[in-house]
Amino acid sequence: MSGEDAPAQQQNAEEQKNQETKKPAEEPKAETKPDSPPDSAATEAAATPAAEKAPEEETFTYRSLVLTGYGGYDKVKLQVKKGKPALKAGEVMVRVKVCGLNFADLLARQGLYDRLPSPPVTPGMECSGIIEAVGEEVTDRKVGDRVLVLNRCGLWQEVVVVPTTHTFIMPAAMSFEEAAALPVNYITAYMMLFDFGHLRPNQSVLIHMAAGGVGIAATQMCRTVADVTVFGTASASKHEVITEGGVTHAIDYRTKDYVEEVRKISPKGLDIVLDPLGGSDTHKGYNLLKPMGKLISYGAANMLSGQKKNLIAVAKTWYHQFSVHSLSLIQGNRSVCGFHLGYLDTETELIAQAMDTILGLYCRGKVKPRIDSTFHLEQVGDAMRKMQERNNIGKIILTTEPMKEEEKKEEAKKEEKKDDKKKDDKKKDDKKKEEKKDGKKEEKKEEKKEEKKEEKKEEKKEEKKEEKKEEKKEEKKEEKKEEKKEEVKKAEN
Ligand SMILES: NC(=O)c1ccc[n+]([C@@H]2O[C@H](COP(=O)([O-])OP(=O)(O)OC[C@H]3O[C@@H](n4cnc5c(N)ncnc54)[C@H](OP(=O)(O)O)[C@@H]3O)[C@@H](O)[C@H]2O)c1
Repeated sequence: MSGEDAPAQQQNAEEQKNQETKKPAEEPKAETKPDSPPDSAATEAAATPAAEKAPEEETFTYRSLVLTGYGGYDKVKLQVKKGKPALKAGEVMVRVKVCGLNFADLLARQGLYDRLPSPPVTPGMECSGIIEAVGEEVTDRKVGDRVLVLNRCGLWQEVVVVPTTHTFIMPAAMSFEEAAALPVNYITAYMMLFDFGHLRPNQSVLIHMAAGGVGIAATQMCRTVADVTVFGTASASKHEVITEGGVTHAIDYRTKDYVEEVRKISPKGLDIVLDPLGGSDTHKGYNLLKPMGKLISYGAANMLSGQKKNLIAVAKTWYHQFSVHSLSLIQGNRSVCGFHLGYLDTETELIAQAMDTILGLYCRGKVKPRIDSTFHLEQVGDAMRKMQERNNIGKIILTTEPMKEEEKKEEAKKEEKKDDKKKDDKKKDDKKKEEKKDGKKEEKKEEKKEEKKEEKKEEKKEEKKEEKKEEKKEEKKEEKKEEKKEEVKKAEN
């Protein structure tokens, strides 16, 4: 079993264990209220007489975010898990303070990320916290160590058990927020630019999603090398921040063709293109490379459109998937690389080396995660919405600190307002539909009126025609009478 499988398997193991150890007579004491926080469980246990005390393994509870099925934001639910996770040799138990949200978590929620086991499962690839227990054979970590953690999944909960090789000691000056924001974004940026890209002075790099977590990390990494020109695509409202952060040429990909913009400034093209978008953008990136240029493909963000899986966006991205003939690579003097941190989960030495360098850069003030916003575990849906609606500049993080009562009330009010707004919107829609219907009814009435008017006009015309015919007939009769009278007169004469 790889260490990365531990949380999911541990979850199943716990559930199994809970069922096995449940004794009917002891049940009421061992059970904690489903929604009670760990503290209240501890208080309950303390109040129980020593002889009847249930073992800590059973009274232990912790809150955990669980992806309950694929779909919208409401599919990730906050649950309370019971039972102390078992600790094996080489593992440590961490009391989690802060977790990082990644774009992959959005894809995973829609069933588009294959490194997350199927639901129900706890997502989360990175977090920070304090070591609470160490397993046998662990010599390089101790209880109380502040660590950042990188794992394939399972870290969005208050307590995690991971192999010690997946933890890294936090520098003294680093906050838990920064520590949770660092592993995925900075290892990805570092390995792409330096292991694959061999970034050197005076080179040029295109960074898409430049205002996002990886984008900002990559820009900071570029700044550690002299005279690197950074082209960064992002929504216009984010340009000021990314330019201050080191992007040389910010491009609003929403209103401009970024290929044209790059060519205007750098007609020969670029040395490195980092491509997190996939589909037709990979082709564009490849065509933007200079001789000896490198395209590093590392994502398919174009697949994500809307809260639920959008089959058209997925199909379009797959249809435009980039492929290249080795001959054109040779003739073009170009290189194409693929990077996926999720598939490097057993390469602990490689990751440890990268992390060591990154933490060194942090300590020398060369890199520093930019936190966009912090949400409580209870607000994970809002956190995901913020990223998906493209409203973040930097990293979105989740704190395990429980929401205060006032905040909960505020949150409930917000939810109520959201519900009211939904209801209002529905009412407005219904009203519009009714108005349309009424409008159509009125139109039909008017049409009928017009039709009747026309009919009457036609009838009148017909009547007039008949009248005229009659008049003519009468005239002719009169004429004939006159003629006869004339003839009689003539005959008498
Ligand atoms: N292969 C790997 O190992 C690896 C590791 C980490 C991340 N990644 C990839 O790197 C990319 C960035 O990840 P991240 O975690 O740092 O996220 P992020 O950049 O913070 O993602 C959110 C931002 O991306 C931009 N964006 C572009 N297309 C989008 C879309 N379809 N939906 C929503 N936002 C979109 C938006 O900024 P604008 O307003 O500026 O468009 C948005 O604010 C993702 O493609 C991710 O899958 C890959």
